[in-house]
Amino acid sequence: MKFQTSITNIKDDQEIIRGHKLEELVQKHSFVEVIYLLFTGKPPSESETKMLNALFVSAIDHGPGTVSGMTARISASAANSTHTALAAGILGFGPRHGIAGQGAMEFFYEHADEKDVSGLVAKLKEQKVRIPGYGHKIFTDIDPRSVTLFGIAKELGIYGKHSEFALKVKDELNKISSKPLPLNIDGTFAAILCDMGFDVRMGQSFFLIARTPGLLAQIHEEQTNDVGSRRLGEDEIEFVD
Ligand SMILES: CC(C)(COP(=O)(O)OP(=O)(O)OC[C@H]1O[C@@H](n2cnc3c(N)ncnc32)[C@H](O)[C@@H]1OP(=O)(O)O)[C@@H](O)C(=O)NCCC(=O)NCCS
Repeated sequence: MKFQTSITNIKDDQEIIRGHKLEELVQKHSFVEVIYLLFTGKPPSESETKMLNALFVSAIDHGPGTVSGMTARISASAANSTHTALAAGILGFGPRHGIAGQGAMEFFYEHADEKDVSGLVAKLKEQKVRIPGYGHKIFTDIDPRSVTLFGIAKELGIYGKHSEFALKVKDELNKISSKPLPLNIDGTFAAILCDMGFDVRMGQSFFLIARTPGLLAQIHEEQTNDVGSRRLGEDEIEFVD
């Protein structure tokens, strides 16, 4: 079995990551900077580091009501270990929750130069396509995380055509939608990651990194409160013949 890699080389009692000694990375660089280095092979600029840090903080947790938060806590309530409950939480992500970013990046990269955004959105509506990155169970007109992140992207000079296009799509979608559909956190991540030039195949990675600490905190709280194994109340279950 042979793997070819340019990421990590462990040789002569030294670990080298993307050409940098691990020891130096530990002493001189932040976790966020090293994630960027690991993913791209280059050290980030100051603006890129600030932007990534803001993305990670913005999605760090969204409460126990989310699919991933719920599945993680339910698994922990059955006295599973932390890593089992975390895996359950991660398996709770899907195209409707947490990992819509990859589809949104594909959409933004493909259509960002579209002149007729209104026509594109109308066509997708007719085809009953759900555009990844739009809609939210609680937020209606605005996802506040999106406003904060675009504000930071503008200050750092990162806000570009993909973010602009994402917001144009939101405006057009809301003119014809039956309910308000904000640009959500997955869509905002996607637009900014496109403006930063990331590969679409990394479209899920940043959200997964961001939310993992939140899931671990939810699991720890469930373990600490230890209310026993969770079960639906009989009144919440409808038996149909
Ligand atoms: C997030 C989401 C699951 C919330 O769903 P919801 O609030 O329960 O919305 P509903 O499923 O009741 O849909 C209501 C209407 O909005 C439309 N709609 C919802 N999300 C849409 C989207 N992203 N693009 C286009 N139309 C959308 C539905 O087609 C439906 O239209 P209709 O009434 O004409 O049939 C949903 O908006 C979605 O699937 N978004 C895309 C995936 C995504 O971005 N997920 C990440 C969430 S953070």
